[in-house]
Amino acid sequence: MLQRTLTILKPDTVSARRCGAVIDRLEREGFAILGVRTLHLTQTQAEAFYAVHRQRPFFASLVKFMTEGPIWVLALERENAVVHLRTVMGATNPANADPGTIRADFATSIERNAIHGSDSPENAALELAFFFPSYELV
Ligand code: CMP
Repeated sequence: MLQRTLTILKPDTVSARRCGAVIDRLEREGFAILGVRTLHLTQTQAEAFYAVHRQRPFFASLVKFMTEGPIWVLALERENAVVHLRTVMGATNPANADPGTIRADFATSIERNAIHGSDSPENAALELAFFFPSYELV
């Protein structure tokens, strides 16, 4: 069944000019790009997006990182999109990411880990709605 998910190319990926390389991998993996936005999150927006992590010790640092520069946000569609994107991204900590995954190749730390992907279909729907009005994704 076709499924949608959300990915963010984080400030480290944008500043390193690796968006093209990452998007090339995603397209080769069969993801269709339904929407793309480039934006620079405010602190309030980053805190809202990552609200589930508000109590974590890394929250303030994560918000600082996610607001340090522009990001690219993409709405993706594919069979089994949520799970497949997380497989292609690799583990949160690049030290644990399988060889050939995006994080193994582009992330530099558990925080500066190149890319975000929704972790469930429910969160994918919430995260897509956070960045894209429903009429934009047809
Ligand atoms: P992401 O998949 O976007 O979800 C939450 C983010 O918090 C994660 O990627 C990392 O950027 C960051 N993160 C998760 N765990 C840690 C940690 N232990 N220390 C620092 N940052 C973390």
